[in-house]
Amino acid sequence: MCWWATSTPRTVLGMSATALRIDPARLLIDLRRLREFGAAGSGVVRPALSSVDVLSRHWLAQRMTEAGLIASIDGIGNVIGRTPGVSKALLVGSHTDTQREGGWLDGSLGVIYGLEIARACLESHLFTEIGLDVASWVDEEARFARLLGSRAFCGELRESDLAVLHDREGLSLSDARRDAGFAMRPLAALEPERHRAYLEAHIEQGAVLEAHGKRIGIVTGIVGIRTFRVTFTGEQNHAGTTPMHLRRDAGKALVQFAAELDLLFKSVAGEASVWTIGEIQLHPGAESIIPGRAELLLQIRDVDDGILQRMQHALVQRVAARSDPATVLVQLVESSPPTAPARMDETLQASLRKSAQGLAPSTWMSLPSGAGHDAQIFSSRLPTGMLFIPSIGGISHSFHENTSDDDITLGCQVFADAVSSLLRSSAGVPDTTLIQN
Ligand code: GLV
Ligand code: MN
Ligand code: MN
Repeated sequence: MCWWATSTPRTVLGMSATALRIDPARLLIDLRRLREFGAAGSGVVRPALSSVDVLSRHWLAQRMTEAGLIASIDGIGNVIGRTPGVSKALLVGSHTDTQREGGWLDGSLGVIYGLEIARACLESHLFTEIGLDVASWVDEEARFARLLGSRAFCGELRESDLAVLHDREGLSLSDARRDAGFAMRPLAALEPERHRAYLEAHIEQGAVLEAHGKRIGIVTGIVGIRTFRVTFTGEQNHAGTTPMHLRRDAGKALVQFAAELDLLFKSVAGEASVWTIGEIQLHPGAESIIPGRAELLLQIRDVDDGILQRMQHALVQRVAARSDPATVLVQLVESSPPTAPARMDETLQASLRKSAQGLAPSTWMSLPSGAGHDAQIFSSRLPTGMLFIPSIGGISHSFHENTSDDDITLGCQVFADAVSSLLRSSAGVPDTTLIQN
């Protein structure tokens, strides 16, 4: 019996190791069609639950239906296509929302891979007792909250948690759900009896594969992310009449603090730790006004929770050292819930490795993910695996994000081979890479 045991092993007629063939032209057509929703030059602007995102969700549900899946959009905007007539399923997903300035492949790639592979499986009547459920999780990119859709699906967020969320412009998630027409729908939820494992494909969004001349990445783990808002409160005053020694300049305090961070983190961080100030605001922001308040958003990432803890500790101490209520008060809050580093399942890594070695011998490698992914939410609940394909120049979260068509189609075929191998093994056809338990 394989590790995600079916009750009655059945034979899948005519299956061979290479039986599941994806259609590269159809895959690229769907990816390019999805790109048109919110297209902005070579990039895409499709924030979660924006009107163009909502349109794209209806389009995706329609494509899933045409593929033979039972498609629905849940109360928060998650799009889920279920294989009919099965009681167990491998869950494949990613996200189709983008950053405020995003690329066309970040997230979309993995969703359309899932659609294409489900379509190929249905065409070749591959599903017996275990099917493929395909999902686009809403708001991976943190318009309202990081990894919103997958966290809600996994039961981490309840309606009362959702009710207090809003975007940076103050639009509440409740209003966005109502405007999208989703508010009255139920929230979909993970079904432990049905969903046996989670797989996600994604562009790498970095330059490791390219630097090593590799075309496929097998993800070993995903970074944890902690995000902080540091607020500086001084006194707003006239920029011409306030002598330098009497100023309580929140903007200047912010700039000095920001300049110290590299040295501070280098003393405690690991080799692969990263930190980013992604946003700075001065209030009220005018050339003749000394800012009375200033804010920065700071994010730290590492695959080691201990290192993240050290970095956070150093940050907290530095904030305390720089805060002086008589001049500029400095305060720190976590601006979104932290995500813990996640490990990918060894068995699924082995399956992805075997498929990569079969189709692209010696052009694959294992690597950790520096980006966050919905997969990290699933990893504590289901065996979870991820596959990467290269990003040209390592560019992502940018209009310039891109990957060659050859790499896109190779990645989908490797992913499809791994899926079909898992489905085969579930149907009782031996696959020696899969660990039994
Ligand atoms: C995902 O988009 C991330 O910010 O890592
Ligand atoms: Mn992203
Ligand atoms: Mn992504």
